[in-house]
Amino acid sequence: MKIRIQHDKHGFRMTNHTMNKKDFPIFKKNPGLVYLDNAATSLKPKCVIDAVNDYFSNYSANVHRGIYDLSAKATSSYEGSRETVREFINAASTKEVIFTHGATEAINMVALSWGVQNLKSGDEVILTISEHHSNLVPWQLVAKKTNCAIRFVDIDDNGVLNLAQLSKLLSRRTKIVALPHVSNALGTINPIKTMIQKAHAVGIKVLVDAAQSAPHLPIDMQQLDCDFLAFSGHKMCGPTGIGVLYAKERILENMQPIFGGGDMISEVYTTHSKWNSLPWKFEAGTPAIAEAIGLGEAIKYLKKIGMDEIKKHDAELLEFAIKRLQKIPGVKLFGPLDPKIQSGILSFNIDGIHPHDVAEILNGENIAVRAGHHCCMPLMQRLEISATVRASFYLYNDERDVEKLAHGIKKAIEIFNFSH
Ligand SMILES: Cc1ncc(COP(=O)(O)O)c(C=O)c1O
Repeated sequence: MKIRIQHDKHGFRMTNHTMNKKDFPIFKKNPGLVYLDNAATSLKPKCVIDAVNDYFSNYSANVHRGIYDLSAKATSSYEGSRETVREFINAASTKEVIFTHGATEAINMVALSWGVQNLKSGDEVILTISEHHSNLVPWQLVAKKTNCAIRFVDIDDNGVLNLAQLSKLLSRRTKIVALPHVSNALGTINPIKTMIQKAHAVGIKVLVDAAQSAPHLPIDMQQLDCDFLAFSGHKMCGPTGIGVLYAKERILENMQPIFGGGDMISEVYTTHSKWNSLPWKFEAGTPAIAEAIGLGEAIKYLKKIGMDEIKKHDAELLEFAIKRLQKIPGVKLFGPLDPKIQSGILSFNIDGIHPHDVAEILNGENIAVRAGHHCCMPLMQRLEISATVRASFYLYNDERDVEKLAHGIKKAIEIFNFSH
């Protein structure tokens, strides 16, 4: 779908998807809502809500087991979603697409299965200092079990990764590099292709945390060639409770499951069991059926708009937001402040006002933002701050939302100037 640009009566740019706020029922109940917490979770379009509702209302049977029609329909919808995900990330096969509860579970599965099997004392895992806790704590758990060490690639003061340091850190001891495609706190788009090439050149595996990129940027497994990729459905218009672990088939074949139970076995004896084939070997128990179907529908919705168009829209809106907020005295912006290497996330602080107070005042204006450490405490320590306010954009946001944010910020400054 091509983006059509129009301007509203105040001169603010509106595109055909920002005008399509009507796809999102939440705006019917709350038309003034300025939702800028998309990095935490996105809103859900009606087509996704309908798909989930349809499953629960009309064919809510279990998958893979029943011989009856309803179960066959549930199975084909669930497995159909897996094919939709495969196509979305251009994986070679659906054997490489494992449904999880989210990015966190996907990364934990890699750490606790591949990590525990392959890491030993003296080995090193390389992360970045801007890691979300979900791509840090699982590796700390593995380090406790295996005695491996964790090393961190630093950033500069604008949140840009130090690639030269990565080259220095890569050594015979390194077994895996695990890094975010997009930083959830600063929005930095990391040069993951270069980093994957550097690691692969010396035989090191790479995990990409795509929780913040899968919703916003086109992702192609054949082109990127990473070994593992993790993302969550709820940040890309899908339901909560569903996510994806992509991994190369030959790696998955050699990995042991970490959860046992129904669906992940082919034969069970009192003494041992044989695992099911891929991808079900890693999906123990009744899966999140409705949620997987909802994720499939969300991907179809995003694809109808086009990931290139979403990327372009986010970049243009970010540029507008940077320029708008830079004009307000007392506002300090974080991150590269360059839409070419920053996705639709803008962190900021206001002189003399705690981020939580800013978020509370903005809430009074019906503007939803996140304030805090954004599950990135080591990054906050690196930047020598305790918290930021984070505005994060998605396809339904537009320049009017940014303008309302700017007014909200000015109001916060006025209130605090009066009270101090
Ligand atoms: C970069 C990044 N990684 C991982 C996660 C964890 O995602 P989830 O909580 O959906 O498992 C998040 C969530 O905010 C994130 O932003």
